[in-house]
Amino acid sequence: AFTPPIFSTSRHDIAGQSVVELAKSFGTPLYVYDLLTIQQRIADLHAFDAIRYAQKACSNLAILDRMRRQGVVVDAVSAGEIRRALAAGYSGGGKEIIYTADIFDAESLDLVLEHDLAVNCGSPDMISQLGQRRPGADVTLRINPGFGHGHSQKTNTGGEQSKHGIWFSQIDECLRRADQDGVTVTGLHMHIGSGTDLEHLSQVCEAMERAALEVGRTIKTISAGGGLPVPYSEAESYVDLDKYYSLWDQTRCRLSDAFGHRVELEIEPGRFLSAESGFLIAEVRSVKKMGDNLFFLLNAGFNDLARPVMYGAHHPISVCPADGSDAAQREKVQAVVGGPLCESGDIFTQREGGYVDKRELPMCRVGDYVILENAGAYGFVMASNYNSKTRAAEVMIEDGQPKLIRQRETFEDLVRGEMIPD
Ligand code: LLP
Repeated sequence: AFTPPIFSTSRHDIAGQSVVELAKSFGTPLYVYDLLTIQQRIADLHAFDAIRYAQKACSNLAILDRMRRQGVVVDAVSAGEIRRALAAGYSGGGKEIIYTADIFDAESLDLVLEHDLAVNCGSPDMISQLGQRRPGADVTLRINPGFGHGHSQKTNTGGEQSKHGIWFSQIDECLRRADQDGVTVTGLHMHIGSGTDLEHLSQVCEAMERAALEVGRTIKTISAGGGLPVPYSEAESYVDLDKYYSLWDQTRCRLSDAFGHRVELEIEPGRFLSAESGFLIAEVRSVKKMGDNLFFLLNAGFNDLARPVMYGAHHPISVCPADGSDAAQREKVQAVVGGPLCESGDIFTQREGGYVDKRELPMCRVGDYVILENAGAYGFVMASNYNSKTRAAEVMIEDGQPKLIRQRETFEDLVRGEMIPD
């Protein structure tokens, strides 16, 4: 996992399956996930006591099912995610599913009680709300350590600009409140942002140690949160997982010594497990020149993959010619890659702030395929029906077989529930 990736702009297959065949069999735009990559990433994190998948990154039931079969536990941030976890075979009553959020709504609180789910409270109010309905509850607390970091300001989840968690200097107050409500704090959790580097992630260890010592011996688990980065370009890299683990392990050991019992160490990755497994295959529908810019317009847009327009996120892009020829033999051009939406920002090659960027790519013709890579995290799950576009189909490649795991939406799906009053 530590070898820096090399991204090619020409691609014929995904996990041994021909891109042209996948596109022909399932249509485009199409999300394709290579299960083997997910399994490899799970194996990379074996040293942790528990790997808790942040399913917000990619929550298709088939993916959750395969994660479960590999021993990965899960978190749920909403009633919908609780129901997904249950539908994928996870059970309540233990810590297979943790509800982790900053609020309860009526539905999520009911589900938590009905299925006896563990809860990670991201606000003092959650402690009381749970305590009133489940006297004697054990909870973990999500602590905002007062600082954060992310690949974009919008993915920074610590510090006072962030709405997440319980402020680090209010732990004492929360413990008093928990006591009044008959709630015991048995674990702590911190997540400072997504796509953060080792330096930032290691500051969390120190903050965790301070917070856990403040809570004291009732602490049985600590969670390192998510945020493990994956490289989206050759300029980026993985964090050194051995170093990362050993920093957390030392923290855990010191706490275990202080408390006189073994403190369990969890990690809560989303992107690290699923990003690199996912590809969005789209078809080129127009190649046009506008002044100095050459545009490749695809049949996938920010309704399918929102990260570039939302965060200026960079995704590797590759080309697969429709006739199966080698894209590497094509002339290289500087192209702007965009989608079909009736909105100027519908551009995949842009930087934060909405600047249109060009990418060196093999020249495309109408009918060729363009593949947006590293799209398995925060890809399909952030898709929308904007411009009345139906959401893409999803396919998982398992044991050398492409398997449909979500049908392409239809017009009927699009208008389901709409009514025209008399
Ligand atoms: N745990 C908590 C409490 C989180 O809030 C998140 C992400 C994760 C774990 C997983 O973070 P990861 O390991 O995937 O970085 N849509 C944005 C990312 C938003 C993440 C929100 N919380 C993106 O596309 O980059």
